[in-house]
Amino acid sequence: MSDSLDPTDWESYRRTLHAAVDDVVDDLTRLRDEPAWRPVPDEVKAALTTPLPREGEPLEATYAAFAETIRPYPTGNAHPRFFGWVHGAGTPAGILAELLAAGMNANVGGREHAAVYVERQVVGWFRELFGFPTSASGILTSGTSMGNLLAVVAAREAARGEARLTAYASSAVHDSVAKALRIAGIGSTALRLIPTEPGRGMNPAALRDRIATDRAEGNHPFLVVGTAGSVDTGAFDPLDALATLCSEEQLWFHVDGAFGALAAASPEHAYLVEGIARADSLAFDAHKWLHAPYAVGCVLFHDAGAHRAAFASSPAYLTRGERGAAAGAPWFADYGLELSREFRALKVWFTLRHYGLARLGASIARTCALASALAERIAREPELELLAPVPLNVVCFRYRAAGLDEAALDAMNEAIAVEVQESGTAVPSTTRIAGRRALRACIVNHRTNEEDLAVLVEAVLAAGRALLKETT
Ligand SMILES: Cc1ncc(COP(=O)(O)O)c(C=O)c1O
Repeated sequence: MSDSLDPTDWESYRRTLHAAVDDVVDDLTRLRDEPAWRPVPDEVKAALTTPLPREGEPLEATYAAFAETIRPYPTGNAHPRFFGWVHGAGTPAGILAELLAAGMNANVGGREHAAVYVERQVVGWFRELFGFPTSASGILTSGTSMGNLLAVVAAREAARGEARLTAYASSAVHDSVAKALRIAGIGSTALRLIPTEPGRGMNPAALRDRIATDRAEGNHPFLVVGTAGSVDTGAFDPLDALATLCSEEQLWFHVDGAFGALAAASPEHAYLVEGIARADSLAFDAHKWLHAPYAVGCVLFHDAGAHRAAFASSPAYLTRGERGAAAGAPWFADYGLELSREFRALKVWFTLRHYGLARLGASIARTCALASALAERIAREPELELLAPVPLNVVCFRYRAAGLDEAALDAMNEAIAVEVQESGTAVPSTTRIAGRRALRACIVNHRTNEEDLAVLVEAVLAAGRALLKETT
């Protein structure tokens, strides 16, 4: 056994790697024949609680354990009938990029190497997509939760130590914004939720009134968060109107566009994000509607100086050089929380280069068309009821039956979701719309087709009828 962790037999390593690559491709080609989701059996959970391995094992044995206990129980989001939450499906090009990034094992906190330039290029492509100026800064993140946090922290810094800060968003805002306010030390009670109808955008007049009330009470409004594609229904706040309001009121305007911002990639949906380029900051994901493998999001800042002011530091052990491996300033570590950073940019770079924006945009448009078709089908089905408008790619609906009260309908729809998931047929998630439990189908997957939606509807109807029989 050598002292290094490298194999003594590289050919054996190569064979294991090749076999693993073959298995990945086989999985992709068989995806449709697999269940959309399957529960993790108890014996598998037990196998994943064994103690710390003190001695190693051959790589083939570790790979065999992975193949048996881990690979068969994925989240399900690669499958065309996974409609839960907001999950990207991944792509073959993204898988290749992940392998190559692991091979390079780059640390993209900073310094002078190619991965830094790849991330700069990807950030530049996103700037171009959303119409941000070339002077704007940006950084890839683990997702929009992190992007929202970085934006809230930068907005707080820009408020220069003011007390009693208050922030504003539609009542449909994602919870990560409240969490960001909490983590930033401002507190989630500082978040004023402007009541907003399901599937609709925030009313700027109501926002303006609330800001005036807060100012009159001695609070210090500092931030408005506009949502581009709300998590529950895919609703858009009127971004352009909010940008105007924020510039008049001198407030930081952040847009949470986790998935909805990517409507910008589809020419027929781009009108939904009008005004997005006027945001002070914009957070969105590449792992949702762009299907880059998890986890990668991005946050852009109009004012690179304000961005850096919130996060930059330069201890002696990280002295930036004019030349050599420590050059390349400014470093990405100056634009976020992390010093050690993975090479997230490569999977986005592969995705955008290989598929191109036009094809990715067409895939986004197709999922919206599928959502409209699903909404129409549900509207025609007497046992089903749409619970919110469908402005984008999210359909909220429920099974209904005469004679059941709201509590019974809630319980029944919760049970339907679990039933359909556990059958392996499809994966809807659930949420609450105007107080009522909804089945939620978020159509993100580039593999989903009309037939998949028909299967989902039939599965919901069958589960609903069976549960109804049990209860009556
Ligand atoms: C509107 C919105 N904001 C924020 C998030 C959080 O994003 P992430 O899961 O990438 O942290 C989501 C997730 O679905 C979302 O839909």
